[in-house]
Amino acid sequence: MTLDELRTQALQCHSCLLASRRTNVVFGEGNPLSPLVLVGEGPGETEDLTGRPFVGRAGQLLDQALEEAGVGRANVYITNTVKCRAADWQGSKAINRAPTDAEAAACRRWLDPQLAILKPQVILCVGAPSAKNLIKPDFKITRERGLVFESPRARAILATLHPAYILRQRNMGGDGGYKEFVSDIRKAWGLAHKYVEETAVKVIQPSLF
Ligand code: URA
Repeated sequence: MTLDELRTQALQCHSCLLASRRTNVVFGEGNPLSPLVLVGEGPGETEDLTGRPFVGRAGQLLDQALEEAGVGRANVYITNTVKCRAADWQGSKAINRAPTDAEAAACRRWLDPQLAILKPQVILCVGAPSAKNLIKPDFKITRERGLVFESPRARAILATLHPAYILRQRNMGGDGGYKEFVSDIRKAWGLAHKYVEETAVKVIQPSLF
């Protein structure tokens, strides 16, 4: 199955109740050949309206951090644990909420094959929900962010703060951990490149002898 075929199927998904109020399925976008894949929590309002991941305020902070880390959004692939917006509805008003475990579990039917097709060298979980899903259920973001774990889905997996968390902390007068956010992205990118180079050496070396 190709990524486009998987996307076409995901756009029709009705595996959970989030499908009933969504505007768009936010499948993911970016460079499918990138050695680094970022996995966030799930789309918010702007993402739901546009069908693109991380394009609201949190997304703008992510873009800024990617630039500062010397990566650039176009060089990575970005997706989410859950592909439809999770919100509680009061009439026509939606209030964003975290996806439930059941919603995240239902969406594994898209995330798992998506990562299997992308085959990244490194996965960077953006925020605790993604890390709890892809690293371990008791992941503690403040204590374990930036640490490198083994994964069946990539050569390495690590997690960083969610940009929405940084924005909330800043609103309360704190620094929010932006410096750590940038340094985690830089670390993930550096690791991904190290693995690419190692693989290239392995491919080239036999022909030298
Ligand atoms: N937050 C996420 O986790 N993902 C998005 O796509 C947007 C905001």
